[in-house]
Amino acid sequence: DNGSPAPADLLGFSAVGVSSADQIVVPEGYSYQVIIPWGTPILGSFPSFSVNSTGADQAEQIGSHHDGMHFYPINGSSEDGLLVLNHEYVEPRLMHASAQGVALSSGATAPLVGGQRPADEVLKEMNAHGVSVVRIVKGVNNEWSVQPDSMNRRITALTPMEIQGPVRGSDFVKTLYSPNGTMTRGTLNNCGNGYTPWGTYMAAEENWAGYFTNKGDNPREHSRYGVSSGSGRWAWELADNGADEFIRFDASIKGADATQDYRNEPVCFGWMVEIDPFDPTSNPKKRTAMGRFGHEGVVFAPAEEGKPVVCYSGDDSRFEYIYKFVTAANYNAATANGSMLDEGTLYVAKFNDDGTGEWLPLVYGQNGLDETNGFTSQADVLVNTRLAADFMGATPMDRPEWGSVDPANGDVYFTLTNNTNRNAGNVNEANPRVANRHGHIIRWKEDGGEQAATTFSWDIFLFGGDSGDSGVDTNIGYDPNGDMLTADNILSSPDGLWIDPDSRVWIQMDSGYRDPFGNCAMLVADPTTGDLKRFLVGPIDQEITGITMTPDQKTLFINVQHPGEGTSPADFATRDYTSNWPDFTPTTRPPRSATVVVWKNDGGVVGS
Ligand code: FEO
Ligand code: CA
Ligand code: CA
Ligand code: CA
Repeated sequence: DNGSPAPADLLGFSAVGVSSADQIVVPEGYSYQVIIPWGTPILGSFPSFSVNSTGADQAEQIGSHHDGMHFYPINGSSEDGLLVLNHEYVEPRLMHASAQGVALSSGATAPLVGGQRPADEVLKEMNAHGVSVVRIVKGVNNEWSVQPDSMNRRITALTPMEIQGPVRGSDFVKTLYSPNGTMTRGTLNNCGNGYTPWGTYMAAEENWAGYFTNKGDNPREHSRYGVSSGSGRWAWELADNGADEFIRFDASIKGADATQDYRNEPVCFGWMVEIDPFDPTSNPKKRTAMGRFGHEGVVFAPAEEGKPVVCYSGDDSRFEYIYKFVTAANYNAATANGSMLDEGTLYVAKFNDDGTGEWLPLVYGQNGLDETNGFTSQADVLVNTRLAADFMGATPMDRPEWGSVDPANGDVYFTLTNNTNRNAGNVNEANPRVANRHGHIIRWKEDGGEQAATTFSWDIFLFGGDSGDSGVDTNIGYDPNGDMLTADNILSSPDGLWIDPDSRVWIQMDSGYRDPFGNCAMLVADPTTGDLKRFLVGPIDQEITGITMTPDQKTLFINVQHPGEGTSPADFATRDYTSNWPDFTPTTRPPRSATVVVWKNDGGVVGS
């Protein structure tokens, strides 16, 4: 015990108000520092940031669109460690010297020059994806800085990766690049993360499907995930040098068989990726036993000696599901490693209206998951996880995003960020709001106090929304006590979630609604008292996402993703962005995603 305060004092700070300013707001008595914005050099020749940086430069710099993150202390230190963070996506119109020929945001068709994209711009965009591993140290005045270090690493959309688990070597993942189906290149759209009981990092592949095109047969393992016949998200397949690593994003390019073409490239994505941050030469590993979907992230329950390892993962799309993976082997702290994730049972959640729930196993040969219903092997069930979950009758949720397990009692919390398509015909008790604009947080307890149990009981922890008296929005929010939200805690679209060692529930917003919520913020709840307070507000047109602390809980790290997201192409041409955070020098530096370090001025535990 590190001297945790009594439950009544768990949230010892004064709530900050709603803010629409282009800055970070923290509570009285706290300070912050911005570190490692997109383009910060961390290795190699340490190329400094510029919109003129090349694709090769970007491979030695921090990527863009910071998301899930974890601090790995070196020798247990709270002042020296590896910060490992995801780079979910990019904003091409902000990252090149010229706006010409650059793909637009929001999946719009690119205004291409000659029907192609400059190959180095494509390379730069691919290298701005993935994961960064960067050593950071605390100096005087609590200021953190990047340390040049042999462990600093960029993992990108091009990094060689191993395919592990039941899908390894199957026909589903044989490609021109890896004819025996054991390897693939890169990871994409890494949203939330996880950290394993054995000290590795997990990066989730979320909205990967949009990076591909299939203008041909678009088989179920593509179509059920949203691979379309339009061009890829930023038309990487149209790179003007025709290089294999770029054109592979057109899955309809066909050769004699799968080992001669790109038809299976989309099946190499949609997995959880395990990375050993302390071994910069290791190949990341795609752990296929954990299923293939739009993984938001993964959360491990505290490991118990002699029991299976249990983790949970949401599939962030409207009406998709929450999953649980239970390892076949029991945990042994001395020997546990990532191979535990290659064998086990993947379950999907069914939330009954009476407050009970069931974990439905996705196992080939059981409950009709066999040839009579179109499933030919466990690899097939895993490649088509969403279809297997449909078949089993799982409960479609309001966009499951992050989860966390309360270390005090094993309760599992998941954010359901929003779902405006929920209607009177498909509401249920777990997703009870029609046109759910502002989302909610669901919570469950596994039966019998066993994290691996196949049944559970659930309730709704809180509802996002307005306070009833502001009159701006009729979608009202309620705190964990069922009381209407107030000026201190209105929130919309809970996304990031983390429960700290003292059981503070940190909640991060990703909302498109500005009025009355202001800029996206981070709040904290006390699950014992039901108190809920706004802790931090970010700059304009961003989301707060990613959260980790040092072991002493005196330093908090969060990410600000996509400040200035609302900027239009015309604004780009004039460098007139909706946000200029964090540099405030728009003529040379566009708005940039970055990490924010927060500490309490008196040196106390953050949040206390
Ligand atoms: Fe990448 Fe579901 O947020
Ligand atoms: Ca998210
Ligand atoms: Ca967002
Ligand atoms: Ca989100």
